[in-house]
Amino acid sequence: MKALVLAAGKGTRLKPLTNTVPKHILPVGDKPVLFHVLNYVKEAGIKDIGIVVSPESGPYIEEAIGTGSEWGGQITFIVQHEPLGLAHAVKVAKGFLGDSPFLMLLGDNLVQEGVKDFLDEFHTSSSDASILLKEVPDPRAFGVAELDPSGKVIHMVEKPQKPKSNLAIIGVYLFTAEIHKAIAQIKPSWRGELEITDAIQKLLEMGKVIRSHLLQGWWLDIGSNDGLIEANRVVLDAFLERDIKGKVDKQSSIVGRVEIGEATEIENSLVQGPVFIAANCRIKNSLVKPFTNIRAETVVEDSSLERSVILENCQILKIKHLANSVIGKNTKLTGQDKDPGEACTEQSRRIRLFIGDDCKVEL
Ligand code: G1P
Repeated sequence: MKALVLAAGKGTRLKPLTNTVPKHILPVGDKPVLFHVLNYVKEAGIKDIGIVVSPESGPYIEEAIGTGSEWGGQITFIVQHEPLGLAHAVKVAKGFLGDSPFLMLLGDNLVQEGVKDFLDEFHTSSSDASILLKEVPDPRAFGVAELDPSGKVIHMVEKPQKPKSNLAIIGVYLFTAEIHKAIAQIKPSWRGELEITDAIQKLLEMGKVIRSHLLQGWWLDIGSNDGLIEANRVVLDAFLERDIKGKVDKQSSIVGRVEIGEATEIENSLVQGPVFIAANCRIKNSLVKPFTNIRAETVVEDSSLERSVILENCQILKIKHLANSVIGKNTKLTGQDKDPGEACTEQSRRIRLFIGDDCKVEL
């Protein structure tokens, strides 16, 4: 069994941030989203891992992963030169996959349960593919599956206008080598992509058996700003533990599950967990409220933050009530000495920003 992790997507909905950083290495909790996905692969005991990257994302992802020894296996990078669909990515990876069965995962989707049970079920059933499904209120933005009463898939369609079920196909699939024969027979969809959903439908038409597993826990797709903020909320809430390595002065108070990295200094501030603050940061005269993720080397002074993701080496100075925001690295936000909205309610003065890398903003 091999694993194929797809990390070539352009991250259009996360622009301008993704102009300079691939979405797969944006942080969720204490690590990049792609590292969580690689952890699922490790937990499932798969050692031969291919990562499909784009020419743009490749160098960043390779640098972030390094030797990959953390995942205890062999990592092979495969370049998909154009984003022509998930089935196209499998086609590009054919040399790596050979005739092996494989687990395929989207490198920016997280599932609460991981994939081990899903894999165990596949090993004990004799099917040619298995897909992970989740009930969603509006399945029109996804691939949608129809099942028979025994859970066998009978029909699959990509982004239907009139879905026949509320079962969205989420980004986790298991295949035998039969999938390559199916991919060879499909044509690009209306959006110009070779859809993996169409390839699985083709398998059905070839008389193959496709199983499914219904996900009970959460499923997170970090493809948008709100998706990234929500993924951080859920993952910080679920997994963060109190761990204070940095220095906290006597005037500060750290409440609940807060992780503070090495050499980070907290002065005269209140931090209310769950909050993750990486190494070498300085937080001074500030209030850091729940579900905030502050990456390394960042300075926060005379500010208050909530439910936001602040990337590396930022300066957040005199900014009050920054909430539900995503701030790219090396960015400087400066507020006023006196809060101009003193007479307003806190709610109406809340600032919400989505800013890429290397910006300077004065508010
Ligand atoms: C892709 C798949 C779709 C699946 C979705 C899950 O969609 O084509 O079947 O439901 O991932 O996130 P895309 O992200 O390319 O729109």
